[in-house]
Amino acid sequence: MTSKSQKKLRIAFIGAGGIAGTHMNHLSKMNDIEIVGFADVDTDSMARRAEQFGVEADACFTDWKQMLRKIKPDAVSICTPNKLHMNPTIDALKAGADVLVEKPMAATAADAKKMVNAATQTGRKLVIGFQYRHSPKTAFLRRSVDEGRFGNVLYGRVQALRRRGIPNWGVFYSKAAQGGGPLIDIGVHVLEMAHYTMGAPRPVAASGTTFTYLGNRDSDAVECPWKGWNWKELDIEDLAIGQIRFENGAVLTVESSFAAHIEKNLWTFELMGEDAGGRWEPPGIFTDQGGHMVNLEPHWLPPDGFQDNFFRKMRNFVDHCLYDEPTLSPAEHGLAVQQMLDALYNSAAKGGKEVAIR
Ligand SMILES: NC(=O)c1ccc[n+]([C@@H]2O[C@H](COP(=O)([O-])OP(=O)(O)OC[C@H]3O[C@@H](n4cnc5c(N)ncnc54)[C@H](O)[C@@H]3O)[C@@H](O)[C@H]2O)c1
Repeated sequence: MTSKSQKKLRIAFIGAGGIAGTHMNHLSKMNDIEIVGFADVDTDSMARRAEQFGVEADACFTDWKQMLRKIKPDAVSICTPNKLHMNPTIDALKAGADVLVEKPMAATAADAKKMVNAATQTGRKLVIGFQYRHSPKTAFLRRSVDEGRFGNVLYGRVQALRRRGIPNWGVFYSKAAQGGGPLIDIGVHVLEMAHYTMGAPRPVAASGTTFTYLGNRDSDAVECPWKGWNWKELDIEDLAIGQIRFENGAVLTVESSFAAHIEKNLWTFELMGEDAGGRWEPPGIFTDQGGHMVNLEPHWLPPDGFQDNFFRKMRNFVDHCLYDEPTLSPAEHGLAVQQMLDALYNSAAKGGKEVAIR
């Protein structure tokens, strides 16, 4: 990667677990960044990361406030469990750092709002780690929407469905730590890219229902890749479904599961507009042309794997911090997504009654 100056972004991590490793792998390919410090309560895994990425032991802390004080990083990547996104983000912003916080932005919309306020008050940059909006398939659809080819987008369908994929690591089984289950963990990815592709309309109301029926049973009972999750303490949903209404009249339905009796996993969204519709996977645009119904597909797209998009997300964050290039993933979009997630869960807790988003 070419650098535009000799400047280096001094970046530290709060949370040095699984996804932090992916951040670091990509950052370490860039010559205009330096990984300068870690804060994690798991000292063993932090020590392994420090060795892997050449961070000195005296730059590793169990208390993120101490790390911020001693290291004074330019930027901080927050890779802690969802419930622990708000406090380190606000502390890092107040310490004068720009922040990339992993998805979902927070465990609740109230937390997310405080994070946006802290960014405004401190004048620091706050970016949400949504990598799927960096996907060439998302760009293919978003550009057509921007060019007005869809007309008004009326309806969208979001699907982030795993047949059996309850994480057997971390604290993904715990509502207290994560704020919820598949909806907030994987539904958020497809929801955010559909919302972004629609042009980020303002959500006004949502209704949702959640079901738990497999995750709370003996996790070794059926052969599947991630056997052994903590089924005894699991208190999240297996399947969440819901509907979101937007200020411009558009409607989006959402389906997200860690466990569902379906033929295969699905990871896609579709949009239906007045003049055209589109689908993310496989990518296509469906419209009328020359008196015929036609299906358009991109002849070629840049590489679109998980790591390709993750690299783009990390590069965009560095470019945003160092060179003031626009971010694709502003905090306001994270907040809107969080409001939708909150409303879907709140509605589910009220038996599916629609709740307003203010
Ligand atoms: N963008 C993506 O595709 C993607 C993928 C996976 C996870 N994530 C997100 O990343 C976040 C972390 O997930 P993960 O899979 O890396 O989990 P993980 O359990 O592997 O890592 C979390 C780390 O946070 C540390 N931690 C816990 N409490 C802490 C504290 N008080 N201070 C400092 N560190 C603390 C843990 O010790 C652990 O090392 C979650 O919000 C998750 O949703 C994003």
